[in-house]
Amino acid sequence: MAKERSINDLIHRFNEETLHKDLDRRDFLQGAGKVAGVSLGMVIAQSMGGVQVKAEDEESFNEYPFTLGVASGDPLPDSVILWTRLAIDPLNGGGMPDRKIPVQWEIARDENFRQVTQRGTEIASPNLAHSVHVDVKDLEPETVYFYRFKVGQDFSPVGKTKTLPASGAAVSSLSFAFASCQQYEHGYYIAYKHMAKEDLDLVFHLGDYIYEYGPDEYVSPTGNVRTHKGPEIRSLEDYRNRHAQYRSDKDLQSAHAAFPWVVTWDDHEVENNYANDIPEKDQSVEEFVKRRIAAYQAYYEHMPLRQSSMPNGADMQLYRDFSYGNLANFFVLDTRQYRSDQANGDQSSPQTDESLDPSRTLLGDEQERWLLDHLDQSGAHWNVLAQQIFFAKRNYGPSPEEPLYSMDGWDGYIPARQRIIDFAHKKTMDNLIVLTGDVHANWGSNLLADFDDLTSRILGAEFVGTSISSGGNGADKRADTDRILAQNEHIQFFNDYRGYVRCEVTPTSWKTDYRVLPFVTKQGADISTRASFVYEKDQHGLKEVSATVVPQGEASSSEVEEDRHKAHDRAHNKQKKKQKQTN
Ligand SMILES: [Fe+2]
Repeated sequence: MAKERSINDLIHRFNEETLHKDLDRRDFLQGAGKVAGVSLGMVIAQSMGGVQVKAEDEESFNEYPFTLGVASGDPLPDSVILWTRLAIDPLNGGGMPDRKIPVQWEIARDENFRQVTQRGTEIASPNLAHSVHVDVKDLEPETVYFYRFKVGQDFSPVGKTKTLPASGAAVSSLSFAFASCQQYEHGYYIAYKHMAKEDLDLVFHLGDYIYEYGPDEYVSPTGNVRTHKGPEIRSLEDYRNRHAQYRSDKDLQSAHAAFPWVVTWDDHEVENNYANDIPEKDQSVEEFVKRRIAAYQAYYEHMPLRQSSMPNGADMQLYRDFSYGNLANFFVLDTRQYRSDQANGDQSSPQTDESLDPSRTLLGDEQERWLLDHLDQSGAHWNVLAQQIFFAKRNYGPSPEEPLYSMDGWDGYIPARQRIIDFAHKKTMDNLIVLTGDVHANWGSNLLADFDDLTSRILGAEFVGTSISSGGNGADKRADTDRILAQNEHIQFFNDYRGYVRCEVTPTSWKTDYRVLPFVTKQGADISTRASFVYEKDQHGLKEVSATVVPQGEASSSEVEEDRHKAHDRAHNKQKKKQKQTN
C-alpha cells in the first residue's frame, strides 16, 4: 500500500483538529503559544504552572476514585514512576469533574507508612483522563518502597515497587517475569493472581495489553467468558474506556501493585497488524492516523511511563533501555511504530523478493542504529531485547520444502533481522537474549548465526512467552507441534497453555521457567512450571533442566499456527459486516 500523503502533513492537521482540541484552550495559549510542533508533553507541563486548583482537602467524590488501582514503572537506580488514574465511573469516561484535581502521594520504606521518605502533590488533569505519573527522584538504588495516593479523604490501595541497582554495580542475581496478550474476553487473569505472589524484582509486558475488538468479534477456541463493553474502539474516549475495563480487573491490578513494570506495545493497543501509519485493512491512512493518535494517548495515560514517553503529535517514544547494574542491559523495542508494511499481503508465505528487500525496516533506521550502538557499547553480562514478535526463523508450513513464514514477525523482515544477527556474530556475542510475546504460546529457541546451519555459532536464546488469556485454555501441544519442532531444529520447546515466563539470571546462567495454567475460562487454576531451561555461554545452547506434566488441562488440541490468523480474519469480517449495516 503506497503512502499517498506525507505523514507529517497528516500529523500536523490532526494535531490541530483532534489532540489540541482536548486541551484546556486558555492554559494552552498561556503556556505554549503555538500549535505547530509543540508536544502534548510540553503543553501539559506548562499548563500546570500558575493554575488555580481547589485546596487539597476540599476534594470529595460520592464514589471511590481509585477504581483502577495503582502501578509503578520504568524504574531507575534513583527514581521510579508512580501511576494512578482517578475514575469514579471507569467504563464511561471516568466520571470525574472537568477540572484539574490535586492528588497527594507518598512513598515509604515500610508498608505502614511509618518511614515516609517523600510526599508531594501531582495534578490529575482532564487532558490526560485524570491520570497521574509521579516521577519520584532521589531514591536509594536496589531498594523496596511502598507508595499510595490520596484525594480528599480517600486513599488508594498501597503499591510496592523497587529501584534498579546502581549503574555498573556488580549484581549477583535478578528475578523477573514477562507477560503479553491479555484478551479480556478469552479468559480470566488467573496468571496475574499467581504472578503477584512471586518474589520478583521487575515485570515486563510485551504488548497486546488491550484488544480493540467489539464484543465477541474475536472469539477464542474455548469460547469467550467475558465481554468487551462498547463496539470496536476508534476514538480517544473509546480507548480510554477499554483500558479502564481491562484495568478494572483485580488480578491485573494486584500484579501492577506488586512490582514495577516496564511496558511496550504490540499491535492491538491500536489495531491488529498495523504497520506505522498503515492500517490492517478497509480504512484510509487519514482515518488511521487519527485513530493511532487517540490510541497512543490512551496508552500513555494508563501506563506507568516516564514523561519522555508522552505522545508528541502522532508519535510516542517507547523504545528505551534499562541497565540492571552490570548484570543485564534491557533494550525495550517498539516494532510497530516505524516498520515497513508487511510483505506478501501480510499472508503466511514463503520468502519472496518483497520480504527479502533490504530497504524494508522493522525498527526504523533511528531505532536500529540506537540498538546496535548500545549493543556495541554494552559491557553487561547479558544483553536482552524485550520486544513483541517472533525473532528466530520459524517455518510452520506443511514441510521444509513448502515453507510458510509469518510476515508480521521478524521472518517477514529477513534483512532487518540479519543486520542484528550479523552484528552480534561479528562481535562474537554469546549473551543475546530475546524476549517475545505476540504468538500466544511458549517457545524456546537457540539463536544461531545462521538458522540454516545448526553448527553455526550460538549467539544466545529466544524465550517466547505465552499469553495471559488470549486464545483461551490452549493445550499442552497442538496438532502442528511435532512437525514445526522437527523442521526448525534450533527451536527446542513448545507449549500452548496460558501463563507467563519467569527468569532467574546470574552473571553466568540464565534460567527460564515456563509458568502455566491448565485453564483460564474458569477461576481456580493452579500454576505450575511446565519446563525450565538453562542457557549458559558455553555454545551448548538451551538445556532443559526440568519438566512436569501439568495436572488437568488438555494434552493436545487440533489447533495449528494458522488458526490464530483465521480468528483475526473472522473478527475483521464481523467488523466489516457491522460497518455495512450502519452505513
Ligand atoms: Fe495477542
